[in-house]
Amino acid sequence: MSTPTYSPGLEGVVAGETAICTVEGGLSYRGYGVGDLSEHCSFDEVAYLLLHGELPTAAQLQQFHTRVAAARRLPPPLKHLLGELPKWTTPLDALRTAVSTLGHFDQDAADNSHDANLRKAERLLAQIPVVIADHYRASKGLPEVPARQDLSHAANFLYMLRGTEATATEVKAMDVSLILYAEHEFNASTFAARVIVSTLSDLHSGITGAIGALKGPLHGGANEKVMDILFATGGPENAEAWTRAALARKERIMGFGHRVYKAGDVRAGILKTYARAAAPAAGAEKWEETADIMERVMAAEKNMYPNLDWPAGRLYHAMKLEIPLYTPIFAMSRITGWAAHVIEQLDNNRLIRPRALYKGPAARAVKAISDRG
Ligand SMILES: CC(C)(COP(=O)(O)OP(=O)(O)OC[C@H]1O[C@@H](n2cnc3c(N)ncnc32)[C@H](O)[C@@H]1OP(=O)(O)O)[C@@H](O)C(=O)NCCC(=O)NCCS
Repeated sequence: MSTPTYSPGLEGVVAGETAICTVEGGLSYRGYGVGDLSEHCSFDEVAYLLLHGELPTAAQLQQFHTRVAAARRLPPPLKHLLGELPKWTTPLDALRTAVSTLGHFDQDAADNSHDANLRKAERLLAQIPVVIADHYRASKGLPEVPARQDLSHAANFLYMLRGTEATATEVKAMDVSLILYAEHEFNASTFAARVIVSTLSDLHSGITGAIGALKGPLHGGANEKVMDILFATGGPENAEAWTRAALARKERIMGFGHRVYKAGDVRAGILKTYARAAAPAAGAEKWEETADIMERVMAAEKNMYPNLDWPAGRLYHAMKLEIPLYTPIFAMSRITGWAAHVIEQLDNNRLIRPRALYKGPAARAVKAISDRG
């Protein structure tokens, strides 16, 4: 056997092939740059692109919308469960449980064919926003707001959450954030999903595991930490001193740095415009100013730049969305990328089973229990 190579955290390791997305030469989905997609497409078109491989025609988009909108409902036992979860259950934990539960009710659950996986993916795309909104409202003692079939993914989600229609500006900002969150090659949650289904498990199992991986603050959980950090600084007056002190304590500033992008994340620049535009109406200019100061300090001191979570946390705050919803919103978008990868993996499967570099004791013989110690 040849000497195994080892890279901690698999940094720089090419662990598979994909036709869905590349970070080379700027992030693109199936060949389209994310800037281009954010400017010219809705999230729903991008969801179709990721799942079906091409941007939809008007007719294909209409049919896709009809299928997804019709699936915006939950089985009654899941609705009951969401209402019965302990009150301290976070929205992301509730979503993880819900996706696992939805597997029990999906007629295609055990069918790993390409077409069945697409059907399941479209259903989960439809159901995830319903889960987030229903659980949120149940946790507040509010009655559920039934899904609307005439609204887009983003517009329907905001409507179900709040019970009122969002403005076109809000829907566009949410749409752009969802487009930018939709897919990112072999990130931790997507890779986790691929590992799970590479055993010939199923799509619901893969997505449940992906949500578990997304939760951590080094990955999707970072967007929920952004406002905590900005609040902790106290505002623009203290931002520089606070950031320098945090760095001196060797703390990580969530929303900065990236395993792949060392010179900046193109997505952060795109979404910053929307976070900035949303701030005045919410009286949040102070946090935009604070963010600017922190960006300058992080660049000067650590040569480190914001990732997508940095503007996303601020945008959602300016939209008056509660912080524990931020990572579930990420999942509501990334379901498209996860599902595309699950389908790609299962369409050309090989079990993902790497090796470990052994660092334990040398071979030895078992002693009788009386001779140990
Ligand atoms: C994303 C992340 C995990 C990538 O990490 P990575 O490529 O493994 O980088 P490393 O953990 O090797 O970090 C390299 C150095 O930069 C520091 N660093 C990394 N991210 C940092 C951050 N956000 N704030 C402060 N310092 C940071 C590390 O402490 C380390 O310092 P050291 O060399 O003095 O020990 C990391 O940048 C991070 O934790 N960011 C904050 C969480 C976040 O925003 N996650 C969302 C990612 S999209």
